[in-house]
Amino acid sequence: MGKSRLEGKVALITGGARGMGASEAQLFIEEGARVVITDVLDEVGAATAKRLSPDGSSCVFLHHDVTNENDWTAVVASVLETFGQIDILVNNAGIFERGTVLDTELKDFNRTMDINVTGVFLGMKSVAQHMVGRGKGSIVNISSVAGLDGTPGFLAYGASKWAVRGMTKGVAKELAPFGVRVNSIHPGIIDTPMLQTFEAAGEGVRELVRTRIPLGYEAEPIHVARLALYLGSDDSAYSTGSEFVVDGGWSA
Ligand SMILES: NC(=O)c1ccc[n+]([C@@H]2O[C@H](COP(=O)([O-])OP(=O)(O)OC[C@H]3O[C@@H](n4cnc5c(N)ncnc54)[C@H](O)[C@@H]3O)[C@@H](O)[C@H]2O)c1
Repeated sequence: MGKSRLEGKVALITGGARGMGASEAQLFIEEGARVVITDVLDEVGAATAKRLSPDGSSCVFLHHDVTNENDWTAVVASVLETFGQIDILVNNAGIFERGTVLDTELKDFNRTMDINVTGVFLGMKSVAQHMVGRGKGSIVNISSVAGLDGTPGFLAYGASKWAVRGMTKGVAKELAPFGVRVNSIHPGIIDTPMLQTFEAAGEGVRELVRTRIPLGYEAEPIHVARLALYLGSDDSAYSTGSEFVVDGGWSA
């Protein structure tokens, strides 16, 4: 099979310096897309873009804090200036912090909501007019299995990922008449730098995999990237407002 499922398309991937976002960027480029990755990690982000496209023709890095509306305005303007269009937005940037209802501080709750929820809202808001004007576009919001059920110790994170799932559905219905699709991805345990944060918080990932994952192993970022590719491409033309789960059976 030829590798051209995203030929002619332009994708904007937030939090793309590393982890899943970087893997999505690599796969999208292999499938013919031009990709802009954004992140607060400037050096890592610039190095990733250079690795994926040494001459800069198919991958560019931009500094971007997803909680900042001015940053969004500047990023979207820059993508349109460089590549002329935005076909796919992957709202991937996010943070994970452990905490129960007993020990979560308001400031930490708000920080998680700012990045994981406000960031996704601003992303959809910032590209919607452009996509509606073109009568096409695919927005892929990265939620989590923690947005599918109640996960103890994930108070703020769970709230944020449920919010992403809920916004996805409402916005999908708002934008469907204009040909713009919006779906959410729900990863389980994926081997990225975020997982190391999780491990550092005292949760043994091995133990979690053993007790929670029927397939018996954690995923690589590419497992999620393949789903993002499907949702970004026209292969998923009839899917909108849906949850796409990639969790080794966790939520079965
Ligand atoms: N790793 C997992 O097991 C797992 C499971 C389910 C969902 N997720 C979700 O997948 C997404 C990607 O996570 P990952 O595992 O690749 O983690 P990661 O920490 O490697 O990547 C997240 C990226 O987001 C960036 N980021 C953080 N705050 C930002 C901000 N304000 N503005 C812009 N960028 C910002 C980080 O710098 C980082 O590069 C996240 O939304 C995460 O919640 C991860």
